[in-house]
Amino acid sequence: MKFENDFLFGAASASYQVEGAWDQDGKGPTNWDEFTKIPGKTFEGTNGDIAVDHYNRYKEDVRLMAEMGLESYRFSISWARIFPNGTGEVNQKGIDFYNNLIDECLKYGIVPFVTLYHWDLPLSLEKKGAWLNKDTVDAYVDYAVLCFKEFGDRVKNFITFNETVVFAALGYLAGAHPPGIENDAKKYFQVTHNVFYAHARALIEYKKLNQYGEIGLSHVFSPAFGIDDSEANTFAAMHANQYQFHWFFDPILRGHYPEYVVKQLEEKGLAPDWTTEELALIEQAAPLNDFMGLNYYQPQRVEKIEEAVEKRENTLENSTGAPGNPSFDNVYRTVLMEDKRYTKWNWEISPEAFVDGLEMIKENYGQIKLYITENGLGDEDPIIEGAVCDIPRINFINDHLVAVKEAIDRGVHIKGYYAWSAIDLLSWLNGYKKQYGFIYVDHKNGLERKKKASFHWFKEVIATRGENLDR
Ligand code: BG6
Repeated sequence: MKFENDFLFGAASASYQVEGAWDQDGKGPTNWDEFTKIPGKTFEGTNGDIAVDHYNRYKEDVRLMAEMGLESYRFSISWARIFPNGTGEVNQKGIDFYNNLIDECLKYGIVPFVTLYHWDLPLSLEKKGAWLNKDTVDAYVDYAVLCFKEFGDRVKNFITFNETVVFAALGYLAGAHPPGIENDAKKYFQVTHNVFYAHARALIEYKKLNQYGEIGLSHVFSPAFGIDDSEANTFAAMHANQYQFHWFFDPILRGHYPEYVVKQLEEKGLAPDWTTEELALIEQAAPLNDFMGLNYYQPQRVEKIEEAVEKRENTLENSTGAPGNPSFDNVYRTVLMEDKRYTKWNWEISPEAFVDGLEMIKENYGQIKLYITENGLGDEDPIIEGAVCDIPRINFINDHLVAVKEAIDRGVHIKGYYAWSAIDLLSWLNGYKKQYGFIYVDHKNGLERKKKASFHWFKEVIATRGENLDR
């Protein structure tokens, strides 16, 4: 059961969800600083102004991670700390912060795994059309190159983007993330293409610098399965995987978009505006990906629909991840199934589907190196006599690590696992109600940090390289 010595046990976070210090030391405002202030957008109006104040307490947090034996910390850089206006003048204090955080990790031998974009876009770029505007791509490439030059001597693992499908779909189909637009499929597909183009250009620039590190991107990975073996639902699963899996993975790893989707989008007038030069760069960059990051929380169970159905009401509880909505083209819908297990937020718990999904990756994309860059349980952790007894999280991570090991034994090339999250943080729409961390943050007591039961458990898992996981 032991994981190899070069398999990284890590945990992750994202700038907006942990840092706070939203206007400290010259940081510019972001799309999320603005969006969370709009009434009704987040649970009880929670926002990341202070978050868990990681910006000011990173030393304490990294020390705790070291105590847990964490081998790698995945965190994201806030673009607006580096370029307060998205482009132009650089804010040295922002660079200093990330240098300090990186050095603090290295002090303990923790590998810094850096995401360049985890959804917080400088507000000035948001106002100019965000990812719909190709100038944002140019600005992103400048920002990425600056990060490579400033941090690349010590950071050897870069992730260009986190979960394009989520910020594009929630931003332009569900209207639940900035810019809050609903049902605009044309814009949704345009954003995905512009991001893949930005990714390709960043990869090409990175390789020119000869920093001998690794670069890739992280996708959410929610493989679709029909609710039964009927022809209709088998078709629904194929269709869902074409749009939700291949649309995202093919351009990155194969260098071109899936024909099935392209043809339908062209027929419907929904294909992105793309130039031959952009498509050629995407193709050129594909072999430069050193790895693919997978964020796995749950699979999708899908059912074919014959007649158009209405989207369900967009509430905070169901707008991120819970099944129940038709696809944008009304071909299928995601459903809850009676024989499956779910979290309190109706996310399915299925380590079995994780193994099947990882096999799908191998079948489609061969031996590309994979890191599980997120996986974890969002829960309201029970506190018993002052102790945070997050046993469901221990069970969840145990079962998913066993699944990862099984996939490795079946020949899937996985080199690390990052639990989401290292420390409790702001859930984008659900505030602090939904917790994910190994480290608890007491919002009623000056943001004091406490070790959860899972902290001690994960420490043991790392120390024994998974030998004692419960199968
Ligand atoms: C992933 C994101 O999609 O899911 C994280 O990369 C996020 O940033 C996580 O926190 C869990 O989502 P939520 O909505 O429960 O916070």
